[in-house]
Amino acid sequence: MNKIIFKKKPIVCLTAYNRFSAELIDSYCDLILVGDSLGMAYYGHTSTRSVSLEDIIRHAKSVKKGISNSLLVVDMPFGTYRTMNSALKNAKKIVKETKCDAVKLEGGIEVKGIIKNLVKNNINVMGHVGLMPQKVKTKKDYKIKGKKRIEKLKILNDLESVENAGAFAVVLEAVKHDVAEIAVKKFKIPIIGIGATNNCDGQILVLEDMLGFFSKVPKFVKKYMNFQKQAKEAVKKYCEDVRSKKFPSKRNIYI
Ligand code: KIV
Repeated sequence: MNKIIFKKKPIVCLTAYNRFSAELIDSYCDLILVGDSLGMAYYGHTSTRSVSLEDIIRHAKSVKKGISNSLLVVDMPFGTYRTMNSALKNAKKIVKETKCDAVKLEGGIEVKGIIKNLVKNNINVMGHVGLMPQKVKTKKDYKIKGKKRIEKLKILNDLESVENAGAFAVVLEAVKHDVAEIAVKKFKIPIIGIGATNNCDGQILVLEDMLGFFSKVPKFVKKYMNFQKQAKEAVKKYCEDVRSKKFPSKRNIYI
């Protein structure tokens, strides 16, 4: 695998779960993540923990078909990197089957050895610290990190572990602004923020969140359109047209 070095910053990242979303964003983004947010934003589950290795590989294969420009990073699902051996076996499977450029996994000190081992085996790794969704069991546990001194220290220690382990970048999610500011000054590893600071080396959002698929989103999401409203209006219009026999018109039938 080629080592990943970003030539230009900020690094623009979004998620995608299928070929059509990937095609939509590929020419604008630097990096596309097949995130395990798939479990929540696509399948409607209350956490990311139910996403399986097979799920992520199936979606990543579809995304790969829509990519010709961006880097493809694939999340390692919950429970797939518990031990050194399982992490290596599963990361190899993801890379082989999806032809991705890197895998992403959550954690700091506790996954340092695992990241090191993957990098040693020529697999590019992206870290993920701060709020780690795989550690969250229900929606109400999604809370920002770094309010308490002990949490601040943990975030900085986790970042240090991920950097020293050889990851090429790290996602920093939902942390207090002051901790994120310290982190971007302190570490060389590119830090991709999601609810961190404007001064991160890059930013990432879940595509469906920023397109306005959902009415309730975290504070760190900016909605660039209101898809939900527009889609509802379109569906309502279609139903009215069918009921009033305006659709299909001559333009939509084979005469
Ligand atoms: O799973 C995901 O989509 C993610 C991003 C939100 C960073 O990890």
